[in-house]
Order: sequence, then C-alpha cells, then structure tokens
Amino acid sequence: MSEAKKLFIKTYGCQMNVYDSERMAEAMGASGYVLTDTAEDADMVLLNTCHIREKASEKLYSDLGRLRPLKNAKPDLKIGVAGCVAQAEGQEIIRRMPLVDLVVGPQTYHRLPEMVAGTAPAVDTEFPLEDKFDHLPKRKALRGPTAFLTVQEGCDKFCAFCVVPYTRGAEVSRPPERLLTEARDLVERGVREITLLGQNVNAYHGGDWTLAKLVRELARIDGLERIRYTTSHPNDMEDDLIAAHGDEPKLMPYLHLPVQSGSDRILKAMNRKHTAEQYLRVIERIRAARPDIVLTSDFIVAFPGETDADHAATLDLIRAVGYGAAFSFKYSARPGTPAAEKPELPAEVADARLQELQALITQQQQAVQQAMVGREVGVLYEKVGRLPGQMVGKSDHLHAVHVDDPAGRVGELVRVRVTGASTNSLAAVRIG
Ligand code: 5AD
Ligand code: SF4
Repeated sequence: MSEAKKLFIKTYGCQMNVYDSERMAEAMGASGYVLTDTAEDADMVLLNTCHIREKASEKLYSDLGRLRPLKNAKPDLKIGVAGCVAQAEGQEIIRRMPLVDLVVGPQTYHRLPEMVAGTAPAVDTEFPLEDKFDHLPKRKALRGPTAFLTVQEGCDKFCAFCVVPYTRGAEVSRPPERLLTEARDLVERGVREITLLGQNVNAYHGGDWTLAKLVRELARIDGLERIRYTTSHPNDMEDDLIAAHGDEPKLMPYLHLPVQSGSDRILKAMNRKHTAEQYLRVIERIRAARPDIVLTSDFIVAFPGETDADHAATLDLIRAVGYGAAFSFKYSARPGTPAAEKPELPAEVADARLQELQALITQQQQAVQQAMVGREVGVLYEKVGRLPGQMVGKSDHLHAVHVDDPAGRVGELVRVRVTGASTNSLAAVRIG
C-alpha cells in the first residue's frame, strides 16, 4: 500500500475558517490525506484565507511567495487557496501567482477532493444550489472537549465597510435537525462545549426555529455542558435569546456583540441601522437577564469622515458598557464596498485613535478580570498546563484559567475559586 499523502492547512481569520479547515481536512481525509504540521513535509498545502481587511488579504500573497522555493524543489506539491480571498479573487490568484494549483470558495470546498484529483475544475467559487454539508464526510475525532458548529453563513446586513456579504453571500441557515445530529455526534466523540458559529449567528432561522430555540434544544443533549454562539448583530438580539441567557444554565455568560462605533453619525454612515443609545438599551436588557455576563465587541477607528467628536463618542460608549475585551481595527478600505469610495483619514490619526481606544479597553479588561478574583466559576479543562500539576481551560465567562490540579484530566468540567488575575488569564484552585 502506498504511504498516506500529507496535507498542511494554514488558517487565517475567523472561527468560521477554523471550522471550514477542519471540514476540508476531513474531506481530504476521505481521499487518503493525513494532516501534517509543516508545509515542508506536505504533498499539499492549503491556505484558508481571510479577506476582511487589506492586511489579512495581503498575507496570502506573502505566504505564497514563501512557498515558491518549496514548489520549485518539489514540483508535485499541490498548492490550494481556499476561503474568502479565493471567493473574492478567483482566477486572479492563479494569474498573479501561477504556482497555485487550485482555488476554492467557502461554499464549494466539498468538491476539493475532485479538484485535487483533476476531475473537477481547478477554480470553483460558485454559490451552488446543493448544500456542501450534504456532501462532506461525518465529523472526525476532535482535538479536545470543545468544538465549533457552523449553523448559519453569510450576511444580509451590508455594513458599508464590510466584504462579508460579497464573499460569503446571503444569509443561509442550516436545518435544525442536521445541527442536532451533528451536535449529538460531537458529544459522542467527547465534546462538552459547542460554539455555534455564523457571520450573523443570532439571525439564525432554520424553518421556524430561532437561535434561542436551537440553543434550548441543544441544551437537552446529555453530556453537552456548555453552549456559546458568535458573532451577533445588536439588531438581532431578540427577546427569546435574551431570555435564554437568563434561564438556560448551559448557555454561558459571555456575549460578543460588536458595535463598531459609538457615534450615531458614523453608525449611520456605516449602515449599522441602530444608534448608540439603542445598543446600550440592548445591553441593559441582556444584563437584566444575566447580570454577570461578560461582553466583548469589535471597533473600527478612523472610518471615513470620523471626527474627534465621533471618536470621543466611541470612548464614551466603551466607558458606559465596561467590556471584558474587544477587537479593534483601523478602518481598511475594501474594494467593492460603499465606504471604499470615500476619502480616508490620515494614518497618524487612525494610529492615535486605535492606541487610545485599546488603552481604554485594556483597563476595562483588567478590571473585569480583577473582579473575578474570589469568585467561584466553572472551568472546562482543555489541556495540561506548562507547570507541573497545572490544568488550563476556559471559565464560563471565557477567561483563560490556570488551575492547580494534579489529578485533573482534559475534558473535565470542574468548579474553581479564582485566586488571582493577570492581563490575559486567571489563576484558580479547584473546589469541586
Ligand atoms: N476595516 C476594518 N475593520 C473591519 N472589520 C470588518 N470590515 C472591516 C474593514 N473594512 C472588522 C469589524 C468586524 C470584524 C470582524 O472586522 O469590526 O466586526
Ligand atoms: Fe460584515 Fe456588518 Fe455583516 Fe458583520 S453584520 S458580517 S460587519 S456586513
């Protein structure tokens, strides 16, 4: 028998790409490929790309440049580009980088094995009518007790800066029965925490099921202990989902709810379709349902037309909320989006605003972590720590926690008391 072929996958960008990479590995596994950790060792290299900001896109081309010597030394090496840059640029990628053998978008990667075998076209960025999930093999053994589950893809919101509605297409929700089956299957394989993924996950509508209904039904699966979901839009935080945060114990007290800006003028220019005040009211309702919830957000600084006063309004909103963490970005003009037509602000202005915003978020992050000290929380062990007798996992609030627990095992869900906080993690002792 011939030796298994080796596949190296590099994943850029969001958690949906992490999920897609796993599914692509499984699809290729059915054709006899096993994963390897280095490109040097591989028969095929797959770059699963992100198009959200210019820097993310450009990374693909610098990484492809670095693969050139490898391809020269090993002409049989197959190089594939998947994900959102593949979707956006298609054939253009091969024109710019002829060492690329195939280009596959996020909706057609179930065809990857045929593309590699040469029985399907080498560039495929369709939005096919068939559902890729019907054509993918069953989920394989996973790396730990946590897993992602994509429940919804695409976005109909058309924020003025964002390429997602173009690269991932219109909102599509997967049927709930399929998701329950996939979730049960994951739990049978040892998964105890599932994070439901979607570009607009709280807009989920599988038939007449909302995301709240899906969460409640998943919560009935024995052995599944924790449920999270990401990423959400403030306008889709419906009452039933907020209520689930109050009364569904398996739904974890953590929510990523991007607001992007605190200025009504900029929110309007971004086509976010809500005001700062409306966002704050949503937060108020969520906190009324689950007072200890940890909130995080995304922010864009220096959106075209943003004044000092607009930026100050964003800082005010951050102060009003008190975030546990946030991702913040300088605005990056993306070809084809409405905002890309508008003049950009000077780079120094963007740099200064980003620094100021990040300093404020860091303060808040530290305060939220510090406030955890002395509290009892759940921790799901994900790996063995670097120090002897130490386990590492995530708290209910998604904080990284180091626990002194020489008898601890990966996959255990334990109760701990938090004893200390540093910028990025908590220290704790096991109490149950
Ligand atoms: N420039 C900068 N940041 C962006 N994001 C999306 N598009 C852009 C862009 N053109 C950020 C938003 C979004 C996160 C995933 O990426 O904050 O919530
Ligand atoms: Fe992009 Fe806005 Fe859709 Fe989020 S809601 S994916 S930022 S268009």
